[in-house]
Amino acid sequence: MAEGKVFIFDTTLRDGEQVPGCKLNTKEKLELALELEDLGVDIIEAGFPISSPGDFESVNQIARTIKNATVCGLSRAVQKDIEVAAEALRHAPRRRIHTGIGTSDFHIKSKFNSTREDILERAVQCVKWARNFTDDVEFYAEDAGRTDNDYLARVVEAVIKAGATTVNIPDTTGYCLPNQYGAKMAYLINNVPNIDKAILSCHCHNDLGLATANSIEGVINGARQIECTINGLGERAGNTSLEEVVMILKQHKHLDLHTRIKAERLNPVSRLVSDTMRMPVQPNKAIVGSNAFSHSSGIHQDGFLKDATTYEIINPEEVGADSSKIVLTARSGRSALAYRFQKLGFQFDRNDVDTLYSEFLKVADSKKEVEDNDLRHMATNYQQKTTIA
Ligand code: KIV
Ligand code: ZN
Repeated sequence: MAEGKVFIFDTTLRDGEQVPGCKLNTKEKLELALELEDLGVDIIEAGFPISSPGDFESVNQIARTIKNATVCGLSRAVQKDIEVAAEALRHAPRRRIHTGIGTSDFHIKSKFNSTREDILERAVQCVKWARNFTDDVEFYAEDAGRTDNDYLARVVEAVIKAGATTVNIPDTTGYCLPNQYGAKMAYLINNVPNIDKAILSCHCHNDLGLATANSIEGVINGARQIECTINGLGERAGNTSLEEVVMILKQHKHLDLHTRIKAERLNPVSRLVSDTMRMPVQPNKAIVGSNAFSHSSGIHQDGFLKDATTYEIINPEEVGADSSKIVLTARSGRSALAYRFQKLGFQFDRNDVDTLYSEFLKVADSKKEVEDNDLRHMATNYQQKTTIA
């Protein structure tokens, strides 16, 4: 494994699709899987084959079609689940079984009414069983975010010994602070004797808005896979957003971490996922929101028009977004107004813009955004008045 390569494990079609209203049929899942492969994700978690015949069929079709990415299917630590996942994935040139069990005391006691020793044994058994079907087995320690680190280290060591090649450390409830999640990864790296035999993976939920920050802390501290979704879709408040982690690693080159993602496909794929899943993207969403490259306050607009890098750290073209927008509101200034008039073909000098600006503010105070039509109206009125005078 290249030192700084971070594997992108996309779970839009599994954790993302669990969102109420986002359910996809096989044709839609297949179409998105092809887009994800083209985007450059390393692993596509295609679904949870035992959950329904429809999902089995989707995973099966994706496994038959995808050639370059690894196709992954989820299962619980249950023999039948694993067998069904293996069957659904049978035709994939690269296939991964993702199996696991809850390891926090919350899960052990409330969900399984069990003991730590019993759960450890079940973890080992499910990995051994999955290894009968593929060499690529990922184990998830559900609720690892709230699992005691000593016990987690014992589980991780045991599943690697049993044959797990990737170990997923999910912050299932989105509870951890970035430094806690990073310290958990560092603890595993430093305390699991056979850790060099597996890749540690970050799987963070966004209940406190920390999924992206936690995943980044995870890779800074030694994990080499991030599980994420397009637009941050996922259970409850969502999962880590793919576009955010990819662009953070691209922006912060000093981290020496990189992915294979084609950044210029991020916006087109985001729109496709949003349309197919019928789930709008919030306008202020980083990288892919409709306002991600809009400037509306006078101070920002003035700086941006002098040099875009004063207020933009990413060129919209780099992520396949439409070009930056200068939005006119009552907070906009004269330079933005002059710029927009110029774009509409009106050449006004400084005095003209000063006069037009007070007219503009009246309109701007009466509505949320001043549009091209308002500007044309203002400009032609002004031209008529000045010609007559
Ligand atoms: O959040 C989680 O713990 C999961 C596991 C099933 C990997 O989605
Ligand atoms: Zn999850």
